Amino acid sequence: MNNIGRAVGLVVGGAVSFAVFETARGEPKFYSNILMPTLQKIISAETAHNLAVKAMKYAPVKKCNNLDVLRTKVWGKDFSNPVGIAAGFDKHAEAMTGLSRIGFGFIEIGSVTPLPQDGNDKPRVFRLSEDEAVINRYGFNSVGHEVVASRLKTWRDYDKNTILGVNLGKNKTSPDHKGDYVSGIRNLGEFADYIVINVSSPNTPGLRKLQGETFLRDLLYDIKCAKDEEKFPRNPILLVKIAPDLDDKDLNDIANVITDKTYGVDGLIISNTTISRPDHLVNHNKNETGGLSGKPVKNMSTSLVRKMYSLTKGNIPIVGVGGIASGADAYEKIKAGASLVQFYTSLIYNGPPIVSTIKSELAELLEKDGYSCVNEAIGADHLK
Ligand SMILES: Cc1cc2nc3c(=O)[nH]c(=O)nc-3n(C[C@H](O)[C@H](O)[C@H](O)COP(=O)(O)O)c2cc1C
Repeated sequence: MNNIGRAVGLVVGGAVSFAVFETARGEPKFYSNILMPTLQKIISAETAHNLAVKAMKYAPVKKCNNLDVLRTKVWGKDFSNPVGIAAGFDKHAEAMTGLSRIGFGFIEIGSVTPLPQDGNDKPRVFRLSEDEAVINRYGFNSVGHEVVASRLKTWRDYDKNTILGVNLGKNKTSPDHKGDYVSGIRNLGEFADYIVINVSSPNTPGLRKLQGETFLRDLLYDIKCAKDEEKFPRNPILLVKIAPDLDDKDLNDIANVITDKTYGVDGLIISNTTISRPDHLVNHNKNETGGLSGKPVKNMSTSLVRKMYSLTKGNIPIVGVGGIASGADAYEKIKAGASLVQFYTSLIYNGPPIVSTIKSELAELLEKDGYSCVNEAIGADHLK
């Protein structure tokens, strides 16, 4: 080999070794400034998603120490920290172990539909890098209850402690939406610490209308009966996930339903993706059909958390989700009324180290303001 060949080999070898070393070390800046943007240039959003789920099985980044100030208790359940992975990343229950190892305080899988279905045609996920956002129209691609139940059973045999949420959807062509959710409770409830009734995905025709008061009462009544009948040992609690595109009347109606003890709703997840398109979006993908997530949803979802916390007088725990990419973003949602928070889109742009970054920044902010635990800060804005 001539000198040029040796030099090229040295440079390429050095770059690869550096990349492998930094990937394993989990250096946040390496992920957000080099690794993730490079991957985004060479592979599509959906391929990157699939690879990330596979990689997560091996948890490439070590878990950071849990910080005492972040320990919290909600619905009588102990969380090592209040930061969870939102639904949509691990749709098919493949990566619970890795997600827990990289430091999430709780994990939500799904949405899962009763029968397997392919979802919408590809492409169906679009990055809006300049906007720190994503538009997706997956349309509930799912392996179905049976496969997910068997994966969760295997996993639960050796992990009894991780707090798991199971997010339920309905099949696109199912004529019986209530039956779809009820079968989700019956088939997957035994593995869950909480169950999410997702009536807010924008990519399944007619789904969002289930957020309307009459539909919601009807649906939740059947769900509560099924849950009461099953008497699952983990006693999963019931959450409803709502859209950020609701008006004040919709919010009032939902607050009336979920505070009515008849329906046994224990909490809300606020919010799903938005169908709106703020004027400030710049990326060429901004007009793709689907749900927009990430930074542009941040203030919409925080403002909904704030309103719902007021409407429910702080009596219904809220999981705040939408555009969280820093400890300050998480703290904002907590002070507006969230007991727990979740994120997904910022993981796409920053990779696994973002989990530790958000947690340590949040711990610092809580301590700086003199709080000894998360609970003390929940809804703090409403005391002003
Ligand atoms: C690619 C993608 C797929 C998603 N799939 C689901 C889903 O299946 N069920 C669901 O309830 N939410 C789903 N979501 C919504 C997220 O759980 C979350 O509510 C939303 O993205 C806002 O949070 P974020 O800005 O941190 O991503 C999905 C989001 C993305 C980006």
